[in-house]
Amino acid sequence: MLRDQFDLTGKKAVVTGGARGLCNGMAQAFHDMGAEVVLIDMSPNVHDAAAEMAKDGAPVYGVQGNLTDTANLGKLVDECVEKLGRIDILLNGAGIQFRAPAVEFPEEKWRAILDVNLSAMFFLSQEVGRRMIEQRYGKIINIASMCSFFGSVLIPAYSASKGGVAQLTKALSNEWVQYGVNVNAIAPGYMATQLTEDMKVKNPAQYEQITGRIPAKRWGTVEDLKGIAAFLASDASSYISGAVIPVDGGYLGN
Ligand SMILES: NC(=O)c1ccc[n+]([C@@H]2O[C@H](COP(=O)([O-])OP(=O)(O)OC[C@H]3O[C@@H](n4cnc5c(N)ncnc54)[C@H](O)[C@@H]3O)[C@@H](O)[C@H]2O)c1
Repeated sequence: MLRDQFDLTGKKAVVTGGARGLCNGMAQAFHDMGAEVVLIDMSPNVHDAAAEMAKDGAPVYGVQGNLTDTANLGKLVDECVEKLGRIDILLNGAGIQFRAPAVEFPEEKWRAILDVNLSAMFFLSQEVGRRMIEQRYGKIINIASMCSFFGSVLIPAYSASKGGVAQLTKALSNEWVQYGVNVNAIAPGYMATQLTEDMKVKNPAQYEQITGRIPAKRWGTVEDLKGIAAFLASDASSYISGAVIPVDGGYLGN
């Protein structure tokens, strides 16, 4: 039955950046569809977030860890496997942002953003992908951005990192989909979250200009990402790989 292909009952998912925001919402989608979930986040709130989500349905575990601590990623993944038994789904969502004109952009911010948004994504995918290849099954979902397609302004490091996420998605897919490991990316459009509150305050003119350009005439919400995340995590999407899928209220088409 087609309906069964969308079901995530019995599937084991790991979601980075899952303590709050968009990734918490996408983890909730996996949970709602029946998956057992580990949330990884550097914030200690990850434990409360997991407890909150676990109130009904399959178990949800919180694991606190800094994804840029690459020497520890193997241990972090082992901890997830201890809790879940195996990993079927990896959503790479942890991300950071910093706004400044390119000529003033501080080196430590550049390095921090590339480290979290791109390098940690690669090294965690490497750890998990190895196990997925062995089990001949896996769904990796990377969180890209509109800035995977265009450069925007005042966010050179973020745009470079998210452009990299799109290319990394294709590169991993090219090697791994033959082993049953699908690698795709979701590119959220302009979403109303904590990360973008910053722009509303610091650059209200840009905020208004963006709203006007979105054909849907509204910023997206976490609810708008749940369907695509659950779909890409499910067997209904098994012939989709290497895709970077915009969820943007039509922005890119305008
Ligand atoms: N908000 C938007 O409009 C928007 C648009 C496009 C893409 N995105 C992307 O979606 C993802 C989530 O965005 P959000 O707005 O929900 O952000 P958020 O700041 O609300 O959540 C990000 C989470 O990642 C965690 N994190 C950051 N660095 C980490 C690290 N080194 N190790 C472990 N955890 C770490 C944070 O603690 C936080 O809980 C990011 O990749 C972001 O770039 C957001």
